[in-house]
Amino acid sequence: FRHLLGIEPLKADDIRTILDLADQYVDLSRGASKHSDVLAGLTQINMFFEASTRTQASFEIAGKRLGADVMNMSMQASSLKKGETLIDTALTLNAMHPDLLVVRHPQSGAVDLLAQKVNCAVLNAGDGRHEHPTQALLDALTIRRAKGRLHRLTVAICGDIAHSRVARSNILLLGRMENRVRLIGPATLIPAKAAEFGVEVYEDMREGLAGADVVMMLRLQKERMDGGFIPSEREYYHRFGLDAEKLAHAKEDAIVMHPGPMNRGVEIDGTLADDINRSVIQEQVEMGVAVRMAAMDLLARNLRAERAGGGIHV
Ligand code: CP
Repeated sequence: FRHLLGIEPLKADDIRTILDLADQYVDLSRGASKHSDVLAGLTQINMFFEASTRTQASFEIAGKRLGADVMNMSMQASSLKKGETLIDTALTLNAMHPDLLVVRHPQSGAVDLLAQKVNCAVLNAGDGRHEHPTQALLDALTIRRAKGRLHRLTVAICGDIAHSRVARSNILLLGRMENRVRLIGPATLIPAKAAEFGVEVYEDMREGLAGADVVMMLRLQKERMDGGFIPSEREYYHRFGLDAEKLAHAKEDAIVMHPGPMNRGVEIDGTLADDINRSVIQEQVEMGVAVRMAAMDLLARNLRAERAGGGIHV
């Protein structure tokens, strides 16, 4: 693949290739020397048009660990503030010959559009409600390492599905790897066409969690609710917040996940989020660095092959 814009175009083998390489980068990252030079000589630019803690930090660490020259654009201080368009900004940066462009943008489709205008590999770090492919890949790696497999599992994704690019990318990935996906949340926060994705939909948390291997919690994404109905946090926690009592309906060894940022006491009980016997939330963050190292390594290999005239490799 030339870019990593979403999970949609990836085949099951592509996903396995990324996760297998990411496993190696987990080992590297836990070792005495975390450094490799597979991206030496390459320039990585991170452009975040929307707030981020985990994704931006882990892309920066991943690039530095692999020896790339990494530049974080401060979008708040860029000439976008003076009216420059996204495309002109991209063309300007493209003229500086970057090799890897990591982009987060609040508009769905903005990263795809930008990828058409530049000569380097583009990685989608989250675009609107559309996709967050590296999040789904790091979630998949976390699940595979915790459960020993990434197929024939029952995964419950709970909360604000309608506004979530994390949910969309996870539904695509988990479906491609032949898992059973359940969506749980209030009807107002589940997309009307959810069933077309081959998922089961539940409005009752206890019913939806019954027999689940993996419980993935999502926050209410108020910034994307566009003045629509926002449930009261107290009522929401009562019905859809994950606590020990509700989790007891899932399998005894079910793991608890959350992509972050987390709102304790709204979608998840704080004590449960910190329970290292059930929660793999910190492992997700660790896997984020490894998956982003793997994705950039593979894209850089393709880029080098393309530039050497060897065509684009999958
Ligand atoms: N999960 C995630 O994308 O977190 P950030 O918004 O902090 O990057």
